Amino acid sequence: MSKFSFSNKIMSQSRYVLLLLCVVKVVGSVENLSRPNIIFILADDAGWNDFSFHGSAQIPTPNIDALAFSGAVLNNYYASPLCTPSRGAIVTGKHPIHIGLQHYVIRGDTATGLPLSEKILPEYMRELGYSTHLVGKWHLGHAERVYSPTYRGFDSHFGYWLGYQDYYDHTCADAGYWGYDFRKNMDVVYQPFGRYNTDTFTQESVQIIQEQPTEKPLFLMVSHTAPHTGSDYNPLQAPQENIDKFQDSIEDENRRVYAAMVDKLDESVGKIVAALAEKEMLNNTVIIFASDNGGAPEGYNLNYGSNWPLRGVKNTLWEGGTRVAACIWSPNILNRVSSDMMHVSDWLPTLYEAAGGNVTNLGQIDGVSLWNTLTKGEPSPRHELLYNIDDVYNNSAVRFESWKLVQGNISTLDFAPVPWDGWYGHYTHNTTVTDLLPQILRSRVALSLQSIGFSLEAEAVKQLQQAADIRVRCNETLPEITCDPYTRPCLFNVLEDPCEKRNLANEESILVEQMLALLKSYNDTAREMIDLSHHPEAAPVNWDFVWTNWKDYL
Ligand SMILES: *[C@@H]1O[C@H](CO)[C@@H](O)[C@H](O)[C@H]1NC(C)=O
Ligand SMILES: *[C@@H]1O[C@H](CO)[C@@H](O)[C@H](O)[C@H]1NC(C)=O
Ligand SMILES: *[C@@H]1O[C@H](CO)[C@@H](O)[C@H](O)[C@H]1NC(C)=O
Ligand SMILES: *[C@@H]1O[C@H](CO)[C@@H](O)[C@H](O)[C@H]1NC(C)=O
Ligand SMILES: *[C@@H]1O[C@H](CO)[C@@H](O)[C@H](O)[C@H]1NC(C)=O
Ligand SMILES: *[C@@H]1O[C@H](CO)[C@@H](O)[C@H](O)[C@H]1NC(C)=O
Ligand SMILES: *[C@@H]1O[C@H](CO)[C@@H](O)[C@H](O)[C@H]1NC(C)=O
Ligand SMILES: *[C@@H]1O[C@H](CO)[C@@H](O)[C@H](O)[C@H]1NC(C)=O
Repeated sequence: MSKFSFSNKIMSQSRYVLLLLCVVKVVGSVENLSRPNIIFILADDAGWNDFSFHGSAQIPTPNIDALAFSGAVLNNYYASPLCTPSRGAIVTGKHPIHIGLQHYVIRGDTATGLPLSEKILPEYMRELGYSTHLVGKWHLGHAERVYSPTYRGFDSHFGYWLGYQDYYDHTCADAGYWGYDFRKNMDVVYQPFGRYNTDTFTQESVQIIQEQPTEKPLFLMVSHTAPHTGSDYNPLQAPQENIDKFQDSIEDENRRVYAAMVDKLDESVGKIVAALAEKEMLNNTVIIFASDNGGAPEGYNLNYGSNWPLRGVKNTLWEGGTRVAACIWSPNILNRVSSDMMHVSDWLPTLYEAAGGNVTNLGQIDGVSLWNTLTKGEPSPRHELLYNIDDVYNNSAVRFESWKLVQGNISTLDFAPVPWDGWYGHYTHNTTVTDLLPQILRSRVALSLQSIGFSLEAEAVKQLQQAADIRVRCNETLPEITCDPYTRPCLFNVLEDPCEKRNLANEESILVEQMLALLKSYNDTAREMIDLSHHPEAAPVNWDFVWTNWKDYL
């Protein structure tokens, strides 16, 4: 049974016994029935510092914290700096440079999408007998119906095709055009008009869980709008009652609304986990909560996230754009802060293995399965990662163990008139995460987990809170050495210097050469980026003010 022994020291004896019983049941059968349900909850543009499981109590997220501390905080998890590439990597297990998504995002007037040659996550899950549903955002192409979710392995899709939208009217202004963007499968639906996206998506997700046939496992992707900005005319949107909760604690008005958007997300996670418990599915479910890329702070992209103390923002190759908030829960993954390096492309093999699939079926991918690392504490198979190579922006960054090389035009000026190379979103507040313990312990998630035998204990949570925080503090005594990636590559030891303040390129010139060689070896395998040229035919004004699969109608 060493297969199921954990390195985890905090886990109580009784839980261990319970866990073994549970695991034995799971592997006791090879029927599809025993495959775990997989619920992947994806936040849009949430920052590192926007959840209280990372050491900041400014925005209490008791449900997400309960999930994270009952399962594993993924403290060393990296995504792409933008939505489309991250989402492409999640569903293909490949790095965006290998699927043509290395630059920018798919726009409303893009004539193509994630290459149709790629077989993607819901298709693999379907083969293993799963029901597959997408709720919320897609953002991997819609110019022709074949690019849309229900043609790519999802049994159903309820949500939108583009990158963001107004939380209430569900329109999106993109590429200079404006139109409505909400569908049930291929049908444009107007019922959600006037209803807040996070609520709409939560309700749909809960319904999918309630209606899931008991003889089939469920793969559900809940891909939220939140906390991305809504429309240009109303970028920060949340119900007033949630905003009011932060009336006394958050002075900055924009940050206050942002906090309410995150609060709604937290509420949503609570409701989804409770629905799984009620349906008696929770004890055989893997739940992931992750952001797609770093946050957009201090008005960048009109938003008010925070990646503090990490450097940079969304759409940059600094840690703040790429090292993102994430956690995972399953009955097999308990009470850990994981420092294992993980890349967004690792989800496909990890979840495929969790589902009982043989990862060799996945062919030539970049991701590696971390399932045994997460469940059994085996060493992480990942030692390096490519942040990105973008030859349009002219920037790139690569990682080997704790070393990171970053170079080129890191801060692109799409959203702002100044480079975003600094540290943003440092808010002071008068509470600590320890003050949140009572809220965490009586959250919907904590109670749901308790109902299936996984009780959270205050002392254990406290220790994990500290562990999650301490490992990403800037070392204030470390002497700074400035860096100008625009002219020369910079080198950081992000283990000792997670805040990227001490450029060691001069001290470690041999390492710089080695890292450049590593980067080149990645670059040699890159494929051409997809065609992001503009197509005015796509404009909703031509299609009843709806963003549509316009190429099918030409
Ligand atoms: C989960 O709980 C339900 C209801 O108590 C039970 O029937 C089922 O066998 C359990 N499944 C696992 C994997 O423990
Ligand atoms: C498992 O799922 C596969 C693929 O959908 C299906 O062919 C097979 O019949 C299922 N097995 C059971 C026992 O339901
Ligand atoms: C924090 O500050 C708010 C507003 O000033 C106040 O209402 C609250 O009591 C303070 N909390 C603590 C724990 O000091
Ligand atoms: C996975 O598939 C490969 C190739 O078909 C096979 O060699 C290997 O034994 C399989 N692994 C498991 C655990 O079934
Ligand atoms: C790209 O960035 C590098 C620095 O990393 C610089 O040397 C080079 O001139 C830049 N190329 C262009 C076309 O701007
Ligand atoms: C970086 O890219 C922006 C456009 O996104 C451009 O305006 C700026 O001049 C570039 N900076 C350098 C140093 O090349
Ligand atoms: C911070 O940096 C100083 C100077 O290099 C070093 O002596 C110290 O061990 C570091 N502290 C931590 C916690 O890493
Ligand atoms: C990657 O290779 C292309 C040629 O295929 C070259 O133009 C580009 O400068 C290279 N980028 C890096 C970061 O080496």
